[in-house]
Amino acid sequence: ATRSVILGTGSALPSKRVSNAELAETVDTSDEWITERTGIKFRHIAAPEETTGTLAIDAANRALEAAGLAGSDIDLIVLATATPDHTFPATATKVQSAIGMTGGIAFDVAAVCSGFLYALSVADSMLRTGMGSRALVIGAETFSRILDWEDRGTCVLFGDGAGAVVLGLETAAEGDSAARGILTTQLHADGRHHDLLYVDGGPSTTGTVGKVRMKGREVFRHAVVNLAEVMEQVLHRLGLTSADIDWVVPHQANARILDATARKLGLPPEKVVVTVDQHANTSAASVPLALDTAVRDGRIQRGDLLVLEAMGGGLTWGAAVIRY
Ligand code: ACO
Repeated sequence: ATRSVILGTGSALPSKRVSNAELAETVDTSDEWITERTGIKFRHIAAPEETTGTLAIDAANRALEAAGLAGSDIDLIVLATATPDHTFPATATKVQSAIGMTGGIAFDVAAVCSGFLYALSVADSMLRTGMGSRALVIGAETFSRILDWEDRGTCVLFGDGAGAVVLGLETAAEGDSAARGILTTQLHADGRHHDLLYVDGGPSTTGTVGKVRMKGREVFRHAVVNLAEVMEQVLHRLGLTSADIDWVVPHQANARILDATARKLGLPPEKVVVTVDQHANTSAASVPLALDTAVRDGRIQRGDLLVLEAMGGGLTWGAAVIRY
């Protein structure tokens, strides 16, 4: 059977980094409150000329370089974002032209913080059904543009950034979990929970861009239950247990969600990649940003078994098991 394998990873952050103390100069909050409740210390905030598109292009170029490929080698771009440069066309088409790719397929997917898991799963399916041979899967966001800076309950939690992976196809024996590649993915959505996390604007409703609204406590509760469940689901399908995992690369929303989810699965905290302290919640960018960080600092090694997971507005959630 053919399998999608990760050939390279890349990421990009806006140059401006903002500490909790700096934020507390303009928002009624404190380093102590943010650190204790979320584990967040810093976030990067995009300058006006830095957009979801420019961050995505930088991350894509770094992933291509790591894979030793050129833009013209790619025939599929799936870009996850909730903060596109324009209502249309898809930000993926901006990346396409910037990397010098003139054919193939390019589109965006919208699943907010789960966006990268959705994009990865879609790209994996398309490659394995012959719709392309090499894909760029990107998560990129500028959430700072849709934050209500008067709402201290949300604005302290998010940051901007982008991450990307290049996927290619390799042949592996059916069910061989030791061979490289995406072993399985699982996605979920439950639209009944719209009001827990949403943006109060949009082209077809208010004609405005809108701001993020969130019921933090309820999101927290759903996150721990849903993430533990979906991780158990994918591991069980492969006949694996949490003891087989080398690294969990979770969506970086909040250190307390990461701790509670790891505890529920009986995973030691040393196996969880944590970047939320440095990047805050970058929505669709957070999983590939954390993945690239841990690949480049040497934590994640070839052959490691990775579990990626995320939950976000919708609610949507998902997980993927990858032999890196
Ligand atoms: N600084 C100081 N005080 C604050 C701040 C702030 N930034 N924000 C809220 N407070 C105050 C509130 O006003 C409240 O004060 P009060 O008791 O006088 O009314 C108090 O802190 C407690 O507020 P809560 O909202 O109840 O605080 P909670 O303990 O629930 O923590 C938090 C809030 C951190 C948002 C938590 O609910 C959480 O982490 N939820 C998960 C949300 C999340 O991560 N969403 C990301 C998207 S979804 C995902 O990615 C999984």
